[in-house]
Amino acid sequence: MSVREEFDEWAASGRDRGMEERHWHTAKHALARMPVEPGDVVLDLGCGSGYAGRALRDTQDAGRVYGLDGSPEMARNAAGYTNDPQAGFLVGDFDALPFADDSIDHVFSMEAFYYASDPHRTLEEIARILRPGGTFHCAVNYYEENVHSHEWKEFISIEMTRWDRQQYRAAFRDAGLHVAEQDSIPDREISIPAESEFPTDDWETREAMVERYREFGTLLTVGVAP
Ligand SMILES: C[S@@+](CC[C@H](N)C(=O)[O-])C[C@H]1O[C@@H](n2cnc3c(N)ncnc32)[C@H](O)[C@@H]1O
Repeated sequence: MSVREEFDEWAASGRDRGMEERHWHTAKHALARMPVEPGDVVLDLGCGSGYAGRALRDTQDAGRVYGLDGSPEMARNAAGYTNDPQAGFLVGDFDALPFADDSIDHVFSMEAFYYASDPHRTLEEIARILRPGGTFHCAVNYYEENVHSHEWKEFISIEMTRWDRQQYRAAFRDAGLHVAEQDSIPDREISIPAESEFPTDDWETREAMVERYREFGTLLTVGVAP
């Protein structure tokens, strides 16, 4: 299945809003760390419902925000969730970003980067379009150290790249980005049932669920264009 087929289905069944609700627990902390200044142009890669652009317009007075997604249905839904003329949504692939060199102040991506068919190329594309000093805030829940995420690839028909923390940093540097920060952002909001309720449909033990959300959380790697 292609990115388009897979995620068009997700968008049609309302999973775009479901992801927004879940991912917001940690995405909002990653967004708050972005050094966006009033008027800056921001791109959200794999935007889903487009919540990141909406949030950056509301909270940091970003100028123009773009959401790019490989699924036309995701991009269409995202456009329908706002009437802000400064928010634009486009269909495109991480392999070839439809932006000029040095044209974007900051790039954000939540739970999408690892679907890139060639993540090294995607990083080169990001480095190309970022203005000097611009940042890429890359947030992922699917990564090597998060052992609880490893099985996710069995439930989706798209190739997923599972790097560890060090591989993220090395790949950013290979693409010409400085690594300014790498951190784990815990999800402190998801409610974790009492011990007596385990096993649940999703979790064998309470310890595993605590580790997944409160300890591992979301891996954030921040690159800066020289
Ligand atoms: C798991 S969703 C995350 C959506 C949103 N960022 C969020 O946090 O809810 C991943 C999104 O990335 C998009 N995507 C995956 N691979 C892509 C690619 N190669 N090019 C463009 N978009 C892609 C999908 O269509 C999907 O909307």
